[in-house]
Amino acid sequence: METIIRTIDYDNMDLEIIKQAAKIIKDGGIVAFPTETVYGLGANALNEKSVEKIYNAKGRPSDNPLIVHISSNKELYSLVESVKLKAQMLMDLFWPGPLTLIFPKSNLIPDTITAGLSTVAIRMPDNKIARELIKYSGVPIAAPSANISGRPSPTNASHVIKDLNGKVDMILDGGEVKVGLESTVLDVTGDIPTILRPGGITREMLEEAIGEVLIDPAIISDKELLSTPMSPGMKYKHYAPKAQVIIVEGEINKVIKKIKSLAEEKQKQNIRVGIMATEQTKNNYKTGFILSVGDRNKPETIAAKLFDCLRAFDEEGVEIILSESFSYEKIGFAIMNRLKKAAGHNILKV
Ligand code: TXA
Ligand code: MG
Repeated sequence: METIIRTIDYDNMDLEIIKQAAKIIKDGGIVAFPTETVYGLGANALNEKSVEKIYNAKGRPSDNPLIVHISSNKELYSLVESVKLKAQMLMDLFWPGPLTLIFPKSNLIPDTITAGLSTVAIRMPDNKIARELIKYSGVPIAAPSANISGRPSPTNASHVIKDLNGKVDMILDGGEVKVGLESTVLDVTGDIPTILRPGGITREMLEEAIGEVLIDPAIISDKELLSTPMSPGMKYKHYAPKAQVIIVEGEINKVIKKIKSLAEEKQKQNIRVGIMATEQTKNNYKTGFILSVGDRNKPETIAAKLFDCLRAFDEEGVEIILSESFSYEKIGFAIMNRLKKAAGHNILKV
């Protein structure tokens, strides 16, 4: 399949390009487009055949449900059975933005989207290109991240092109995304809302708005696994580069020392080593392919660059990535969640 690739200037949008993409969606095709979190691969959410094309292009298991994207609050009500007061409050505060809410689904939503669940995930992206695309398509757009299943999510169009060129009808290049990690997924069907995936909207932000918010035990049990040093745990692998990732966690000077000695050891064995460092620490390392993922004092810079760095190590042909660990505070919780998944919970405590 020939993929049409078009660049759009965010501040001076060419509506003809948006209309061309919208026509593809209306006609049942699939289009990759930017959101504020990561790039998505979109199809008409109300057309089962189109949605199937997404699963095929990504190689995504069909038991993993998709998020439905809307461009205004009024589009929500026909897609869901009911909206609780707390959900309405969160929509008013955080939409458009990186918060996905889980609602009981209406009959309009096909089972292909929800993988047979009785609930549906919905969000309104904080990106004008995405919202105009939804508006001109005239339908809600189902979109997972626009990567091959299991790979790090794409944060710019070149990542999408690398994974999906030739497999999708169109790729809209809207530049680098803002957040760099996927949206927070919050289940608002029960009495106390529960975070199913941490993201840019943090637990603290949600609790300030609506009171108590729980975290899915599956996310917290990630933390428990931290105590298993060098645990293989490969079955948990996700967001993964081709290289093996090892996170070294502890007091930062000890972390640097450990990474340096590991890097030298691996190099002697002729293993190509990558080191994921930060602005504050990068000058300590001499061995291997060294990348700074961002500024420790500005965790949002780390969120924005994490997936790009993981992909850059692959491009370099690195076989093992030694990563520093980062603070769990605020967006740090989401950063460490993705990093641990990329590492298959391979964590070395020092
Ligand atoms: O930021 C984002 O959310 C990006 C952009 C493109 O919007 N999308 C994204 O989609 O990350 P995806 O498919 O990679 O992740 C969707 C997540 C999965 O973890 C899926 O299991 C969960 O949302 N999900 C979808 N529907 C659900 C449902 N009904 N109940 C529970 N979890 C659901
Ligand atoms: Mg994904």
